Amino acid sequence: MPQASATAASGPGEESAFLLACRRRPVPYTPVWFMRQAGRALPEYREARAGIPMLEACARPDLIVEITMQPVRRYAVDAAIFFSDIVVPLKAIGVDLDLKPGVGPVIADPIRDAAAVDRLRPLEPGDVPFVVEAVGALTGELGATPLIGFAGAPFTLASYLIEGGPSKTHDRTKAMMYGEPELWARLLDRLADIAATFLKVQIEAGARAIQLFDSWAGAVGPEDYRTSVLPYSRKIFEALEPYDVPRIHFGVGTGELLGLMGEAGADVVGVDWRVPLDEAVLRVGPGKALQGNLDPAILFAPWDVIEKRTRDVLARGRTAEGHVFNLGHGVPPAADPDTLTRLVEFVHEESAR
Ligand code: CP3
Repeated sequence: MPQASATAASGPGEESAFLLACRRRPVPYTPVWFMRQAGRALPEYREARAGIPMLEACARPDLIVEITMQPVRRYAVDAAIFFSDIVVPLKAIGVDLDLKPGVGPVIADPIRDAAAVDRLRPLEPGDVPFVVEAVGALTGELGATPLIGFAGAPFTLASYLIEGGPSKTHDRTKAMMYGEPELWARLLDRLADIAATFLKVQIEAGARAIQLFDSWAGAVGPEDYRTSVLPYSRKIFEALEPYDVPRIHFGVGTGELLGLMGEAGADVVGVDWRVPLDEAVLRVGPGKALQGNLDPAILFAPWDVIEKRTRDVLARGRTAEGHVFNLGHGVPPAADPDTLTRLVEFVHEESAR
C-alpha cells in the first residue's frame, strides 16, 4: 500500500492524505473513511456495547476511545470519527431524550412553543467533560491518523426536537419553519450555538477536522434552505473559522442544495449517492473539496460490481479539487466488515499516484 510522504509538513499529521485532500492539496492516494464506520457492522463493537445503552456508552471515555479506534484498527481508514451522537449535546443540557435501538433519537417532550425553546440553554464545555477526556486520549492513540469531530446541524437537530423522533416527512418541523418564522429562528439560533460549542470543545481537545451533519436538510427546497436553514449552519462554520481545521458539511438527498451547503462555509461538501461527483463539482463550484459517494447498498453486491462502482466514483472524484472517498451515507449495520477492509485497500491501490 502506498504511504503518505511527509514533505512540506506544516504541523504534526499535516502529511495525512485526509487533511491534504480536505485542503485541496496533492495527495499520494485518495483518502477514505466511512460515515458510521464505528457501529453494529463490527462484532467488536457489538461486544463492547453489550448491555450498555447507547447514551451511556457516549458518556464513557474508555468506551468512546475503544469504539472510535475499532474501525481504524480493522479497516486502516485514513481518519477516525469521534464516537458519539448528534443528540449528546442536547442530553448534556438537560433535554429528556433517548436513543432507541433500531429507531433513533426519541424526545420525551417535543419542542412546539416559545417556552420550550427558551428552556434550551447554551452548552458549556463543562457539560461534556467526557468528550474532552476522550478526544484527548484519542489523539494520543491515533498518532498520525486525524480525528474528525462532529455535530448535528440546526435543521436536523430541530427536526428531532420538534417531531419528537425520526420522521420521513418532517411535517411539524416544516410547519414551524413556514408558519412561525420567529420561533423557528430562535430555535435554530440556539441550536447553532450549541453545535458550535460542541465542535469547539472537540477541536480544542485535539480534533483535526469537523463534520456538520445536516442529514435531513434535503427535505427543504433551495429557497427555503437559503433563508431558513443556511444562516444557522453558516453561524457554526463562521464560529470555527479561527481554528483553521477543515469543515465538512453533509446531508442526505441534498443534490439541489450542494452549492448552498458550500456557501454556508464548508471546505468539503459531502455528497450522497444520488448525484455523481463530476456533476457535484459543477454544482458546488470552485474552492471546495468533495466527499463521497458510493451507494452503501453497493456493499451488498458482488465484489466485481463494488470494484467497478468504486473506480467510477474515483474517476469522477478526480474532477474535484480534492476528494475524500466515503459512502453516500452511513455503513449499514448488515454490511460485511471484510468487504469494507477490502474496499479501503482497493481505494488506496487504485488511486495511488
Ligand atoms: O462512526 C461514526 O460515524 C461515529 C458515530 C456516530 C453515531 N451517530 C453513532 C451512533 C455519528 C457520526 C452519528 C451521527 C448521527 N446520529 C446522525 C447524522 C449521521 C447520519 O446518519 O445521517 C444522525 C441522524 C443521528 C441520529 C441517530 N442516532 C440515528 C438515526 C441512530 C440510529 C438508530 C438505530 O439504532 O438504527 C442513532 C443511534 C446511533 N448513533 C448508533 C450509532 C453507532 C446505533 C446505536 C446502536 O449501536 O445501538
